[in-house]
Parts: sequence; C-alpha cells; structure tokens
Amino acid sequence: MDEHALECLRKAGAISREARELGIGLVDEGKRLVDVANEVEAFIVHRGARPAFPVNIGVNDIAAHFSPSTDDKTVFQRGDLVKVDVGAHVDGYVGDTAATVEISTKNWRPLIDSTSKALRIAIEMIGENVSVSQIGGAIERSIKTDGFRPVVNLTGHGMKRYNLHAGLTVPNVDDGNPAKVKTDMAIAIEPFATNGGGQVYNDRPGNIYRVLRGRQLQDQKAAKLFEQITTNFGTLPFCERWCTLITPEAPTLLKTLIRHGVIACYPVLREVKSGMVSQSEHTTLILNGKAEVST
Ligand code: CO
Repeated sequence: MDEHALECLRKAGAISREARELGIGLVDEGKRLVDVANEVEAFIVHRGARPAFPVNIGVNDIAAHFSPSTDDKTVFQRGDLVKVDVGAHVDGYVGDTAATVEISTKNWRPLIDSTSKALRIAIEMIGENVSVSQIGGAIERSIKTDGFRPVVNLTGHGMKRYNLHAGLTVPNVDDGNPAKVKTDMAIAIEPFATNGGGQVYNDRPGNIYRVLRGRQLQDQKAAKLFEQITTNFGTLPFCERWCTLITPEAPTLLKTLIRHGVIACYPVLREVKSGMVSQSEHTTLILNGKAEVST
C-alpha cells in the first residue's frame, strides 16, 4: 500500500472512531435522532475528514440504512437498543465503524456483548490467506454459542478509494465462499446478532441515496440539484439532510430524481421477526499479512 493511502486510511479510521464514540455518547432518552446524526457529521468535518456515508442510526429491530430526515422529530426512548454506524473518508480512503448502546436499561447487555465478542474473534483471526467463510464461520459460532442468531443477509465488505463496498464480502456465517483476504486490503467486519429470525428485509425508504447514472433532465431545478449531488458526493451515499442544505426544495426534487432513474433510495433494513438487533463494526487494514484495526 502506498504511503499516502495508508496515512489517509489511518486518519479516516481515527476520526471515524472518535465520531462513533461521540455518537454513542450523545444517544440519550429524549434526544432527537436527527440532532445526533448532524452533530456526528459536523464533528467529522471539523476534524478534517468528510462523512463517507450519512450516519446510520438503527433503533431496535432496524439493523441498517436509516438516517433521520431534516424534519424527523423522533426522540430516543428509554429501553431503545441503538446502533450508530459512522464512516469518515480522507481523500476517498474510508474508515467504517459501528457500535450498539442501550438507553437506561440493561435488558440487551448479552446481545450487545455477543457482537463485540464476535468482532473481536474475527479480528484475531483475519490475515493474509484466511478465507471469508472461515471468518464468517467463527462469527456464526460465537453468536450462536451466546444464544442468538447472526443476521445472514448482512455482511462486512472490502473498501476501495471512494468505494464503500468493493472486492470481498465478509459474511456473518460460513457461506462456503473460498475468497481469501490479501495484503493491502481495507476490510470492514460487521457482525450483526439478533434474538429474531436472523434475517433482514427491505422496509420503507430510509433517506439514504446513491447516484445510479447521469442523464439530461428537463426539470431545471432537479438538474441543478443532481449536478451538486454528483459534485459533492460522487460515488458515495448521501442523504436528504445534506441535500436540504443545498436547497430547501430537496425533498420534492429527490422524488423527481428517483422518478427519472438517476438516483435510488436505500430501503431501511428491518429484522424479519421484529427481533432486536445489535451490531459491532471495525475497519481492518491488512498490512504485511497482518490486520491493523484503523477504527
Ligand atoms: Co460497513
């Protein structure tokens, strides 16, 4: 890995770790979700990086892909199980990390501990020539031993410059995939555990978008927003809140852009049996065959 890439990956990792800890600390009874997301993203920028994706806040059976919209009045409640998944990038090099916290109760401690333990085990074993199914198998065994189910259709992922999901997929079960970890890869490992069915389904849209393709648009306002989106966010995911800072008409214009097929909205990923979901995530850098945790 060249020196610039490594320096950026380490800086992005350190900032995303701080952002994760800030976010986890901000989550509290009566606090708005949208305020936590905004504060964490502002912190990332203040520290000299950029958000690699909108802060994901998953409450209870929501596993991923939800970020509050500008006008979201939802507040955290006592007993909520909250995942905060944050990413920062420096010159396109990403750190991606997540943790889970429970608000004012102690009902889900074993579930939270289960994903942090599975993540620790995965990090201990990851290295040159370890297959992704070996890692997935270890995560699966650890979570099942704790009496929970791994979420089978959510995975860790390789990352490349300005690309959040590139190269390897790291499953949370032994899926038989023989693909092996190699030196110089940046890999996010993210076990999810649940007391539900062990799968997520696509629910309503979650305010997180991606660009699909460029195309001429008749609607001048929509065209202008689209141009700003591609300039500001490029190939990385973005959200309604960021677009509303560009123009207050963004909520309507985003619908127009979806209709014209130039952007898509990610659906919220929710547990199939409304089970509670816990998540732990770190980014690892494979250097000279061994893993360094950047986050
Ligand atoms: Co990730």
